[in-house]
Amino acid sequence: MKRNTKNQTHVSEEEIVKQYRFMDLIKEINAEYEMKSGRKRLVFLQSFGCQMNENDSERLWGMLSEMGYCEGKNSEESDVIIFNTCCVRENAEEKVYGHLGALKKQKADNPEKIIAVCGCMMQQGHVVETIKKKYRHVGLVFGTHNLYKFPELLYNAINENSPVIDVDESPGSITEGLPIERKDTIKAWVTVMYGCNNFCSYCIVPYVRGRERSRSIEDIVNEVEELGRKNYKEITLLGQNVNSYGKDFADNTSFASLLRELNNIEGIERIRFLTSHPKDLTEDIILAMRDLDKLCEHLHLPIQAGSTRILESMNRKYTKEDYLNLVGKIREKIPNIALTTDIIVGYPGETEEDFEDTLDVLRKVRYDFAYTFLYSKRTGTPAAKNENQVSEEVKKARFERLLEVQNKISKEINDKLLGTTEEILVEGLSKNSVWNYTGRTRTNKIVNFKGSKELVGKLVKVKITGTQTWSLEGEVISW
Ligand code: 5AD
Ligand code: SF4
Repeated sequence: MKRNTKNQTHVSEEEIVKQYRFMDLIKEINAEYEMKSGRKRLVFLQSFGCQMNENDSERLWGMLSEMGYCEGKNSEESDVIIFNTCCVRENAEEKVYGHLGALKKQKADNPEKIIAVCGCMMQQGHVVETIKKKYRHVGLVFGTHNLYKFPELLYNAINENSPVIDVDESPGSITEGLPIERKDTIKAWVTVMYGCNNFCSYCIVPYVRGRERSRSIEDIVNEVEELGRKNYKEITLLGQNVNSYGKDFADNTSFASLLRELNNIEGIERIRFLTSHPKDLTEDIILAMRDLDKLCEHLHLPIQAGSTRILESMNRKYTKEDYLNLVGKIREKIPNIALTTDIIVGYPGETEEDFEDTLDVLRKVRYDFAYTFLYSKRTGTPAAKNENQVSEEVKKARFERLLEVQNKISKEINDKLLGTTEEILVEGLSKNSVWNYTGRTRTNKIVNFKGSKELVGKLVKVKITGTQTWSLEGEVISW
C-alpha cells in the first residue's frame, strides 16, 4: 500500500546516518571511561511538559542508550543533566530556571558535568538570551525542531569549552528513524503530527512547535505494528490537533482513515488520541470512534471557555452553542462516551458573566474530568497585549469555584458506576498501598484493586466496589 510519500519536510536519511555516527563516537568515549573508572556514565533527564514532550524525552533516551548512558537517580550523581522544557504556562518556565540556578554549584564542583536544556522553551529567543547571560554553566541548548541533532551537539559539548547553542527557527520538520526507549511496557505514545496552525490568541505552541505536519501513514503503521509485536496493548496518538491529521497531504488521507488503518493492527487492544480541536472534529471521526472496536469511549475535547465572546477573542472559531451541539451529536452516536476538557480561567477581559457561561457548560456537558488552568500571559501571543488582564485574586477565586462544580460532577458520574462491571487494562502497581494494583477503563478512569503480578498487561473484568472523585476501586471478576 503506497498512500503518501515522504515530503520535503523530512530530515534526510543521510542526516540521520550522520547522527548514528556521532552516537557511535560517544559510545566509544563512554566505553573508555567505563574501563578506566569502573562505572557507566549516568544521565538525569527531567521532562516538564505535555505527553509530546514526554514522547520527545523517550527519543532522547533512545539516543542516550545507544550512546551507552544509563539513568541516574538524581542530578548529583549524574554526568549529564537534561531538562526537556515546556513554555505553555509561566510556572513551568519558572521551575526550569529554579532548577538551573540550583545546578550552578554542581557544575563548579565538577566542571566535566554537562548541563543541557532543550524543548519548547528554547524555541523562544528571549529564553536563550537569558540562559546565555544568567546561566553560563549551561553547556548545551537545543530546541524541539533539531532534537534529532542531539548526538552531534552532545559530542560538541563534550569536546568544547564554550556552550553549544543550536536552535532551529524554521517552521519544523519530521524525523523518522531515531531510536526510542519507552518508559512504559504496556501503553505507548505515538506522535502522529507535529505543530499547530490555529494560533489561539493565548497560546505559545504555534510559535514554538511550528506549522502542522503529519507523519506518513506508513511510518505510523510501522511503528504501531512494532508496538503490537512487542506486546504493547494500548496506544495514544499524539498531536496538538490530531483532527487535522493528513490535511497537509495531497491525497484525501484524514484522521479517520488513519484510525481505520490502526484498528487492524494485531496485538493492540486499545487506541486513544489527544488533542482534538472542536472545530475540526468531523462526523467521520465520530463515526470511526463509534464503529472501530479498539477506539476507546473517551474524548478529550478542550472548550477553553464557555462564553462565545471570550471564545471569539481566543480565536477558537466556535461558539458556546456550536460546542454544545457537537457534544450532543457525539453523545447521540456514542452514548457511553466519557468527555474531558481543558479550561482556562481568567482570560483577559473575562467578566463574571463570561465565567458563569463556563460554569453553565460544565453543568450542561457534565465532563468526567476537566483540566483547569489559570490564564498565563505568554510573551509574543496576542492575548498578552490585551490591556484587560484579570487580577490574580479574581482568577484564583474563579478557579476554586470551577473546581468545586467540576469535582461534584466527577464524583456523581463515578458514583453511578458503583456495582457495574468494567473492562480494565492492568497497568501495574498502584501508588495507593491498600489497593495494590491499578488499571484503566476504556473511558480512561483509574481503577485500583487487589491483584497480582500476572494480571499486568491483561484486560480484566472488575466489579466497581468504591468511588472517589478521580478514581474507582474494584474487585477482579475474571480475566
Ligand atoms: N494560559 C493558561 N493555559 C493555557 N493553555 C495554553 N495556553 C495557556 C495559557 N497561556 C492550556 C490550554 C490548552 C492546554 C494544553 O494548556 O487549555 O488546551
Ligand atoms: Fe495552542 Fe490552540 Fe494550537 Fe491547542 S489548538 S496548541 S490551544 S494554538
